[in-house]
Amino acid sequence: MVQQQMPLVEGLFQYIEEDITRYHMPGHKGGQGFCREFLDSLAQMDVTEVPGLDNLHNPQGVIHNAQKLASKAFGSHHSWFLVNGSTSGIHAMILAACPPGSSLIVPRNCHKSVVNAMVMGDISPIYIQPEYDKYKELVTQVTPKAVKEALEQYPNAQGVLLVSPNYFGMCSNVQEIAEIVHKEDKILLVDEAHGAHFPFNPRLPSSAGELGADIWVHSAHKTLPSFTQTAYLHLKGERVDKDRVSRILSINQTSSPSYILMASLDWARYIMETKGHDLLDSLMNNLGEVRSLLKTDAGIDSLGKSIWPEVHAIDPTRLVLDFKGLGLTGYQAEKILREEEGLQIEMSDYGYGVFICTVADTRSYLQKIVQACQNLGEKYKKNTDIHFPMSISREIPQQMMSPRQAFYSKTQKIPLNESQGRISVGTIGAYPPGIPRYCPGELIEKDGIEELISIHRRGGTLFGVHEGNYIDVVVE
Ligand SMILES: Cc1ncc(COP(=O)(O)O)c(C=O)c1O
Repeated sequence: MVQQQMPLVEGLFQYIEEDITRYHMPGHKGGQGFCREFLDSLAQMDVTEVPGLDNLHNPQGVIHNAQKLASKAFGSHHSWFLVNGSTSGIHAMILAACPPGSSLIVPRNCHKSVVNAMVMGDISPIYIQPEYDKYKELVTQVTPKAVKEALEQYPNAQGVLLVSPNYFGMCSNVQEIAEIVHKEDKILLVDEAHGAHFPFNPRLPSSAGELGADIWVHSAHKTLPSFTQTAYLHLKGERVDKDRVSRILSINQTSSPSYILMASLDWARYIMETKGHDLLDSLMNNLGEVRSLLKTDAGIDSLGKSIWPEVHAIDPTRLVLDFKGLGLTGYQAEKILREEEGLQIEMSDYGYGVFICTVADTRSYLQKIVQACQNLGEKYKKNTDIHFPMSISREIPQQMMSPRQAFYSKTQKIPLNESQGRISVGTIGAYPPGIPRYCPGELIEKDGIEELISIHRRGGTLFGVHEGNYIDVVVE
């Protein structure tokens, strides 16, 4: 490596040169979701808080107006522009809703930003298990019943946080859960990071704001034509203090927010509000065609509402393909699609490949999926059964200390198979099922270790385990 090189820039240029078809974030798909004038002015738009261009941390002019329009479009009483992803919005909503020492009911498969907020705010998680479909080998939704039971058992909880939709586009019954939560005079927070497009077409699941959430986040960069790191935080009603949210966002966001990022949030709202309905109609029609063509191509299934009636709602723009009929894991299929078909998907796990499809995808772009899958079907069909049937524990381990105490403890790395009786510092789990077996501060037990090792031996992958076999535990 010499100083004449720019490894990152060169890597990016190479990715551009390979002309990869992008089924991953950000939702603008290599600029396709912006107009020429916007793209040509990016460097010129990169300014700072000069007169006339307002200040994100005390908006009174153009940023204030842009946020007002976003609030109207997304159905909130107030919306904030975020330049550090939904991550910063999740931190802010939890810290604003839950005072230090309080507790919050959260699904066990929540994003890591949720647990990190609890570390920062000294908040205790009360975990509930999301449903797991052992035949499809996927985490699906949180049921109203699970929320009701948790609220009965923990009447002092500050509120409930939901993740809806999940990475696979599956939505919980937010409306019924909101009624249960509000009946107990608690707060409903929704991580709707993957559902920023929901408010713009009635064929999509309804947005959390419409269904009763008090505060919710949208990662604009995931499903809208907006740059990476951009997100919105939305508030409705009086249950969460608006000024406190603003104060926290002034702490956890940079004092020099990028005008390029903020401009793309304004752009994304403008496009979705003015053309989003029709663009989403076309996207869903084109995806319908893709799904029906894939059906004739034996071996690859797409998951959807028709085969999943028990899931409350499913985002039809999220294409989830099951390659097991070809004898391929999701990981293998992702690699082959990239190397042989020039198509990069968003994410894969043992069983599935997840494609993020947005209003920036054209019909011909989407047709490439069909062609690529046909090629895959012809080359790789092996008739091997690689299903991963297993019984996983639904029990929630004993919480020995709060996530904050675990975070600030002295820690050491030890082999997973020697960790019985120790307290986990991080989140440890396996795909499948993708639900953590241990969360920070929990007691590691023999059956949990055996479960993780057995999944790993059979080809599943572990998370929270470093260098093959090591985990972080508290030194007591
Ligand atoms: C469910 C969920 N919530 C929150 C986040 C964090 O979003 P961001 O990357 O915008 O910070 C992610 C990121 O993938 C996510 O999947």
